[in-house]
Amino acid sequence: MQFIDLLSQKDRIRTPLLHRIESILDSGHFIMGPEVTELESRLASYVGSRFCISCSSGTDALLMPLLAKGIGPGDAVITTPFTFVATAEVISLAGATPLFVDVSADTFNINPDLIGRAIEEAVSRGLKPKAIIPVDLFGQPADYKRIQAVADAYRVWILEDAAQSFGGTFNGGKAGSFGLVGATSFFPAKPLGCYGDGGAIFTDDAELDTVLRSIRVHGSGVDKYSNDRIGINGRLDSIQAAVLLEKLTIFDEELAVRQRIADFYSKKLHNRVVVPKVPEPYTSAWAQYSVLAASQEEREQLMLALQKEGIPSMIYYKIPLHLQKAYSSLGYKIGDFPVSEDLSRRIFALPMHPYLKEEDIERICKVLLA
Ligand SMILES: Cc1ncc(COP(=O)(O)O)c(C=O)c1O
Repeated sequence: MQFIDLLSQKDRIRTPLLHRIESILDSGHFIMGPEVTELESRLASYVGSRFCISCSSGTDALLMPLLAKGIGPGDAVITTPFTFVATAEVISLAGATPLFVDVSADTFNINPDLIGRAIEEAVSRGLKPKAIIPVDLFGQPADYKRIQAVADAYRVWILEDAAQSFGGTFNGGKAGSFGLVGATSFFPAKPLGCYGDGGAIFTDDAELDTVLRSIRVHGSGVDKYSNDRIGINGRLDSIQAAVLLEKLTIFDEELAVRQRIADFYSKKLHNRVVVPKVPEPYTSAWAQYSVLAASQEEREQLMLALQKEGIPSMIYYKIPLHLQKAYSSLGYKIGDFPVSEDLSRRIFALPMHPYLKEEDIERICKVLLA
């Protein structure tokens, strides 16, 4: 059994995708070809934002808005320690200081009640808080209504890390559309993934759109060889855009299947482990289906029982970022973020993809309930 099965999906899109790839081979437009422009307009209308800037990865999709807004040394950017390292890494790459805020135990997303205090502490340490990067963990958007209220009160802007949540919604809005700017990832294992690295940025801000397009191509001005600012090589390949265009045609159908699988898991398992809660007005893209065991020991037993039956399971995330060696210089210690630390001891993720067979889901639940 696969944790994420990309091969069954490939069989569904194979013929139209091969046609698209052949036409790219014939055209010779391998980077930022017409497929990229088509993809950007399809993604912008899917998400409901004015502009979509495709780029080379989810990491670059997070980094580029920080560069565009001039984030740098002396600035602080707020995020959670319970996320993939890229969320905080881009803050450090921009030269700013990551400022961690703990997550809520029920959603695994940033706790809006704790943001204000973290901002005030940062100011007292001489830092200049500029932005918040909420993470839509495992596919469920963060609480953008409350986060926006805090952001407005403290005059900071929001960069949504929608790397895992493309397709998820909050209050009827699509993931990627929240805050000043949203960033997503098309890493192959993501709900909408390509066959390599890729990402996209969404915004309604025309000026930001222009600057992001420049940063994507080495800070280009009127052409590639006039450079207005420091940028990166952040372009998307035409073949990856072609993959995404084909996958978009079946994406909503796949999301519905992910939802059915999550409902099935939750119905079967809610008396055995803590199952994810996705209350109204949220929907999740179900990048992961993560549950909580009663203790670290019980997690080990359950994961071992699954492994013995050939069923893969994963831990996201075993070490919260404030306890990672890479962030030792920030001076955080055990106990600083108790919810993230507790989750990292008890959480584990079950196989989740739209091609999971009913008998496989039954088998996974049977092992966990034994
Ligand atoms: C929450 C989060 N942010 C950022 C990223 C970075 O995306 P990418 O791997 O496309 O650079 C990921 C991808 O794993 C992620 O899960």
